[in-house]
Amino acid sequence: MTDKDVPRHTRSVREIEAGIERDLARNLSYGDYLDLHTVLDAQHPRAVPPRHDELLFIIQHQTSELWLKLMLHELTSARQLLATDDVQPALKRIARVKHIQHTLTEQWSVLATLTPSEYAQFRHFLATGSGFQSWQYRAVEFSLGNKNPEMLRVFAHDAAVHAELDRLLHEPSLYDEVLRLLARRGHPVPQEVLDRDVTQPYESHEGVVDVFAAIYADPARHWPEYHLAEDLVDVEDNFQVWRFRHLKTVERIIGSKRGTGGSSGVPFLRRALDLTFFPELYDVRSRIQDVTPDGYHGGDGS
Ligand code: HEM
Repeated sequence: MTDKDVPRHTRSVREIEAGIERDLARNLSYGDYLDLHTVLDAQHPRAVPPRHDELLFIIQHQTSELWLKLMLHELTSARQLLATDDVQPALKRIARVKHIQHTLTEQWSVLATLTPSEYAQFRHFLATGSGFQSWQYRAVEFSLGNKNPEMLRVFAHDAAVHAELDRLLHEPSLYDEVLRLLARRGHPVPQEVLDRDVTQPYESHEGVVDVFAAIYADPARHWPEYHLAEDLVDVEDNFQVWRFRHLKTVERIIGSKRGTGGSSGVPFLRRALDLTFFPELYDVRSRIQDVTPDGYHGGDGS
């Protein structure tokens, strides 16, 4: 048999094998680099007797937390880049955030295979544990702009986490940084918005709607600002879709039961759908005038 007779796929496997590193005792291995022993030993089901479906529940939460970690990493960098007027690299970070959000949302379909009967077999062992206590989720909300000092109380038992969230609470959010950037680029962002107490929930301001109205009225002239604004709307939209999928997954698994964290459950989650990170970016939409063929800008459109 000549080399030419070997099927292509077999030949390529041979070639790869020749170069494969086998002395993993001396060299850094895949598992060492990723610290897989730690990651894969971190699932500790609690149900007695053991229940098959608890591993899904744990891994779904752990993978969500890993993606939240990366999202925070990207958002922190995006905030810093905006603060130094590096808009293009910041947009690159935000693009990655959007893909992470899609992955997190898509992931609900795995958990949706958990039936109410399966969950009921180990729910009792979670005691008062709940996603409501996810500090990384709160950190992402703070980073985007949904500030709420009240939330810190949930983490009073964990000094390190409490300190980290308190630090983030006092830093300008992504939205604060965007508004400051717009002001530096000559847009008339009201001074009281620029000087606001960033630890407090953001409140919509008519003057900021005016700023966005000018940007949306002439996208070609304000392209970087326009692009950034639409990226923020994408992020908010993705966040709401995640919240909605969480709500619907929870609904199909626990119906109208109360949450393990003590809330009303589905009604509590439904209220979060009214939250907005970037209110003026939604307000501005009803201000945009319809353009007719004769150039007439008609009413508020429909
Ligand atoms: C069977 C699966 C799940 C059920 C039944 C469930 C149920 C709930 C309920 C009822 C709440 C309201 C607080 C409470 O009373 O506990 C909540 C909040 C929350 N859950 Fe889940 N959840 C599930 C899976 C997940 C997963 C996989 C994540 C991913 C990290 C997650 C993240 C959160 C977050 C971040 C909150 C706080 C939301 C907010 O404050 O707006 N949950 N969950």
